[in-house]
Amino acid sequence: MGDGTLERLASWEREEFAALPTRLLPMPRMAASLGASDLWVKMDAETGFALGGNKVRKLEFELAPSRLDGVTHLLTAGGPQSNHCRVTAAAAARLGLGCTLVLSGPEPVHPTGNALLHRLFNADVVTVADRAERTPRMEAVAEALAQAGERPLVVPIGASTGLGCLGYVRAAVELVEQLDAIGPRPPRTVVFVPTSSCGTLAGLLLGMSILGRPDVALIGVSADAPADELMAATKQIARDGARLLAWEGDLFADDVAFVDTQVGDGYGVSTPASLEAIALFGQSEGLVLDPTYTAKAAAGMLEWLSGDHAKPEDRVVFLHTGGHPGLLA
Ligand SMILES: Cc1ncc(COP(=O)(O)O)c(C=O)c1O
Repeated sequence: MGDGTLERLASWEREEFAALPTRLLPMPRMAASLGASDLWVKMDAETGFALGGNKVRKLEFELAPSRLDGVTHLLTAGGPQSNHCRVTAAAAARLGLGCTLVLSGPEPVHPTGNALLHRLFNADVVTVADRAERTPRMEAVAEALAQAGERPLVVPIGASTGLGCLGYVRAAVELVEQLDAIGPRPPRTVVFVPTSSCGTLAGLLLGMSILGRPDVALIGVSADAPADELMAATKQIARDGARLLAWEGDLFADDVAFVDTQVGDGYGVSTPASLEAIALFGQSEGLVLDPTYTAKAAAGMLEWLSGDHAKPEDRVVFLHTGGHPGLLA
């Protein structure tokens, strides 16, 4: 380090949406029930704005004031229960901008959870039948808005860009400070990260690489895609973030691993293991997981803890990325 990268990051322009730092909490009762000694949760469910979650940190960078110069309308896309769309719609409301969300269907008859919040924040919802139609439709809507005299800004799906991932480079700095304040550093700290469009994991990977912390291993647990796709996307986004920060070091790519054994019948479809994880977090720690991302990631962590990879001296951290409106859908 010492090359000014962290200073560039700290002074990078952003919109301050999040309540930071989020808490790093011990999970003693869950640790006892699992026979683990050193188990923690990083509460990014509590980033605060619009019910919080990981998207808040990314959108702080994507929606920095100079990027919004002249912009009148935000446009993004996601699934019918998208957390990213919830926070984008809330940001538009807060900033006095219009918002259109392109959501894959079906259109809910009685919107609940995030679908209810998309509408509460007054977004225009355009429903498409299939996930593959979202990006082309977003482009078409952007063109129509521009022709009508609006200045739309398209926020890529999940805000998982080099710029958006800077929110999780900052989170890496925050987490490392909290971990170091616990006491002597264990040989290895393993952080479980719910993963889909990979911006969260990419930011953490870039952050740990910049900070020179190979003792922090990251495990991305997939909500949908196979591990090799996630690895490629994570590295690409992290490299894009590194370029923005003008950081020329090597990514600690050996310190990131992927678990894709919890996808089950697909994105958003609960499995026996994910339902068990929701119950365990609720009953032992009073924590609310969401069915699509954090429940599957927690199931991946539980599977890992009971297997051969875990070592008794490991410190284990679960990154709680939020999404709880999805549980109430
Ligand atoms: C609650 C929650 N957790 C995790 C993720 C995955 O984060 P990323 O898309 O950065 O991989 C998402 C993304 O949609 C999310 O909404």
